[in-house]
Amino acid sequence: MVTANAATRLIQHYVDNFRRLPWRSPPAAPQPDPYRVWLSEIMLQQTTVAAVMPRFERFVARWPTVEALAAARDEDVLQEWAGLGYYARARNLIACAREIAARGAFPATAAELRALPGIGDYTAGAIAAIAFGERSPAIDTNVRRVIARLDGHESPSSRQVAERVAGLMSQVSPGDLTQAMMDLAAAICSPKTPRCGVCPLNADCAANASGEPERFPMRKARKPRPLPYGVAWWTERDGCVWLVRRPSKGMLGGMAALPGSDWVEAALKPPEAIGTVRHVFTHFALDLCVARRSAPVGEGWWQPIETLDRAGLPTLYRRAAELAASASETRRAAA
Ligand code: ADE
Repeated sequence: MVTANAATRLIQHYVDNFRRLPWRSPPAAPQPDPYRVWLSEIMLQQTTVAAVMPRFERFVARWPTVEALAAARDEDVLQEWAGLGYYARARNLIACAREIAARGAFPATAAELRALPGIGDYTAGAIAAIAFGERSPAIDTNVRRVIARLDGHESPSSRQVAERVAGLMSQVSPGDLTQAMMDLAAAICSPKTPRCGVCPLNADCAANASGEPERFPMRKARKPRPLPYGVAWWTERDGCVWLVRRPSKGMLGGMAALPGSDWVEAALKPPEAIGTVRHVFTHFALDLCVARRSAPVGEGWWQPIETLDRAGLPTLYRRAAELAASASETRRAAA
């Protein structure tokens, strides 16, 4: 039976090649701590393994259990998250930790996990399979690509992919299979240049047989992204800069920031513009113009410029602040 052979070969390849990651148990070892699995899956949403690794280690050293995290102050968690982006994740993380601490334990099924803040279908499936051994597929674009190629299907539905993965999972450990798929998609079955010669599934793979594996799945045409624009004010006094906290709802909610305009306004070039930072979020890019302003705007605090790296600024504002701080230094040197 092709399915059994494919699953077994995929697992054998994983046993021989698996990535040692701080949230993983080796193949066939006892299941890893659900707290670490959950935290890693949330961090890995939209963020690469390389970027997550050091941040994960630091986070679990500071809050080693879900109970410890549930008891943390919101500001401390948001600050620890600074630079990872997608700050709704951090706010949901806190809410989720508190719900789990109140229940006394992580739920062990994808259906129950799915009901918690910040946990979607993919994350619920991944946690249930990896931490609890449930046969619950975790379908993202990577897994979809592997299955589309295996079956030579240009545009499989999520349901078709989920059923196919569940079939593979019935032969082997669901947690190992989930992580084997992730590793295969990252290291071998990559979008543009798959390395079919070293793939454990090459004999089963319809896309490989076609000679043009990279054609699968068919890519959808993307709509061009709108480009909003915003202004961030740089107000400097006695070696300090005026920072504010963004409203808790919306983009970068609850994060430290330079004060400024809404991001949807038409471009208005302020008179004392220092420069512009372009930042790419998932669905749009933003041009943020940093400009000097003499009076502080809104409720906030004076942050010493020397300690800006400890203010918990998300990347967009950290880059804007670096631009303004270095322009100030140049100005002082010239004066
Ligand atoms: N991407 C999402 N979840 C992952 C995991 N557990 N290991 C590696 N890459 C991942």
